[in-house]
Amino acid sequence: MPLVRVHNFSISLDGFGAGAPQSLESPFGHAGERLHEWMFATRFWDPEAGHQGVDDAFAVRHGDGFGAEIMGANKFGPPGWQDDPDWRGWWGEDPPFHTPTYVLTHRPRPPLEMQGGTTFHFLDASPEEALGVAQEAAGDLDVRLGGGASSIRSFVSAGLVDHLHLVVVPIVLGRGTRIWDGLDGVESAYDIESVASPSGVVHLTLTRRSRT
Ligand SMILES: NC(=O)c1ccc[n+]([C@@H]2O[C@H](COP(=O)([O-])OP(=O)(O)OC[C@H]3O[C@@H](n4cnc5c(N)ncnc54)[C@H](OP(=O)(O)O)[C@@H]3O)[C@@H](O)[C@H]2O)c1
Repeated sequence: MPLVRVHNFSISLDGFGAGAPQSLESPFGHAGERLHEWMFATRFWDPEAGHQGVDDAFAVRHGDGFGAEIMGANKFGPPGWQDDPDWRGWWGEDPPFHTPTYVLTHRPRPPLEMQGGTTFHFLDASPEEALGVAQEAAGDLDVRLGGGASSIRSFVSAGLVDHLHLVVVPIVLGRGTRIWDGLDGVESAYDIESVASPSGVVHLTLTRRSRT
């Protein structure tokens, strides 16, 4: 049975997946690059100079077994990208998704076919409807839920996420978009494990308990 998975989603100690305000110059707001420094040091990110420790072992799972991705509008571009007909995402002409990629937005536009197998499709749909479309495209493979925090939260809240890999980074952001708001008691639906890395981050996995 194909799964819905989140990987490498980095949050601060106080649960923020991005700082504020988000902009073209600062996609993660006042968080800057601090949420992802652990990942930049891995071989997954930097095949030349990256290391192959605990962080890398988790990071590489981002690439395994996915047939589609769903992301929120604020991951696809800075505030106002919907007003720019030339905006094609942050990732250049060969984005790192290599599958159909569904961007949730209240202002959809025609699909964008990129190089390397990524096509961005723009959907104004409920989480359930969007997941149905993505699963159809993914076939036997899993669907990656790429973030940010608001869209992950809405899918978890709807009971649609099987596995989350969250990376707790030892910084306090105080403001931004938070993953946990409205998810009180979410731990009762998941088996939760943690692995502390020498780098200072803690890898959390939340695996949905069987619904039998
Ligand atoms: N920490 C990490 O590892 C990580 C990973 C990925 C991204 N990020 C960062 O997270 C930030 C974005 O996160 P975010 O929480 O602000 O926003 P987000 O989840 O990326 O996007 C939320 C927006 O998506 C649209 N949307 C969501 N659900 C929808 C639905 N069912 N139907 C139609 N539209 C829907 C709405 O935009 P509209 O109403 O404007 O259409 C909504 O405001 C960015 O800074 C990004 O760089 C962090």
